[in-house]
Amino acid sequence: MTGGSVTVDVHLDAADVACALLRDAAQGLATRPRSLPPKWFYDERGSALFDDITRLEEYYPTRRELEILRRHAGEVAAACPADTLIELGSGTSAKTTLLLDALEAAGSLARVVPFDVSESTLRTAADTLARAYPGVVVHAVVGDFERHLHLLPTGGRRLVAFLGGTIGNLGPAQRGAFLGRIATGLAPGDGLVLGVDLVKEPDRLVRAYDDAAGVTAAFNRNLLAVLNRELGADFDLDAFAHVACWVPEQEWIEMRLRSLAAQRVSIPAIGMEVDFAGGEELRTEISAKFRRQRLDDELSAAGLRLARWWTDTAGDFAVALAFPA
Ligand code: AVJ
Repeated sequence: MTGGSVTVDVHLDAADVACALLRDAAQGLATRPRSLPPKWFYDERGSALFDDITRLEEYYPTRRELEILRRHAGEVAAACPADTLIELGSGTSAKTTLLLDALEAAGSLARVVPFDVSESTLRTAADTLARAYPGVVVHAVVGDFERHLHLLPTGGRRLVAFLGGTIGNLGPAQRGAFLGRIATGLAPGDGLVLGVDLVKEPDRLVRAYDDAAGVTAAFNRNLLAVLNRELGADFDLDAFAHVACWVPEQEWIEMRLRSLAAQRVSIPAIGMEVDFAGGEELRTEISAKFRRQRLDDELSAAGLRLARWWTDTAGDFAVALAFPA
């Protein structure tokens, strides 16, 4: 049995993505300290490795967020009985299903909008959603949440979900800009449901990003494999060590790749030869951790009002519900 209608808006094609990678690599590798944005982790292998990460004993965020939504999705739906769920991220996870089921039970659900950079991921997600929710319109949007938020479908009462703690991948300025664009796009009554990882003992945070089985290390190094494939680079993955550290001043986890020796890497697609000193680090991700007050302040500054806040019983992770101020 197939479901109801599926449409896919494409605001980003393979050429845009290739261009953005060229730009990010050229910029990030030319400046010191060198850095690359975490969005390039997620090719097919990177996405599979991230999936493995979510099942690691040390990586608690996915389980904690799921626990919160199992317990409180009904309250989310009651506080914001939306007809449209927009999920930033492809939207077939168990977490999405909990929100969709809650909106359906509240009698409000009519449309779901999965939003993702990967068209193939999104088409699969859209089909899965259409089958699982036959009465619901599936309107998938291919785009980058830092560039295409203004192109999200409007109308009705919308609930935007940005889960998993992915907002932590943005630095403070990017976060402010992102939240500001969300606030601008929301109408009165629309809501934002946001998953954020919380500040806790550095030990546990570091272990979540440096697991004993080395899955996160493989995930981190896979970024170099992406550059090798997409840009013709010749990174030797074994010549870089995985590093995860807690930066107390910023309250974020940083993942880096540390060059084990002095080495030169050539990246033909951007015409660069990059010299790494022995011990030099390339930053690949920040994953900011939050406190309620800080998130409240950041939401307010962006024109949003923190209405509800739920945590898991251990207090590891939080799900926030915000409305336009
Ligand atoms: C998918 C961005 C939420 O920051 O915890 C997992 C990615 N990086 N392990 C996170 C990630 C290393 C993850 N997010």
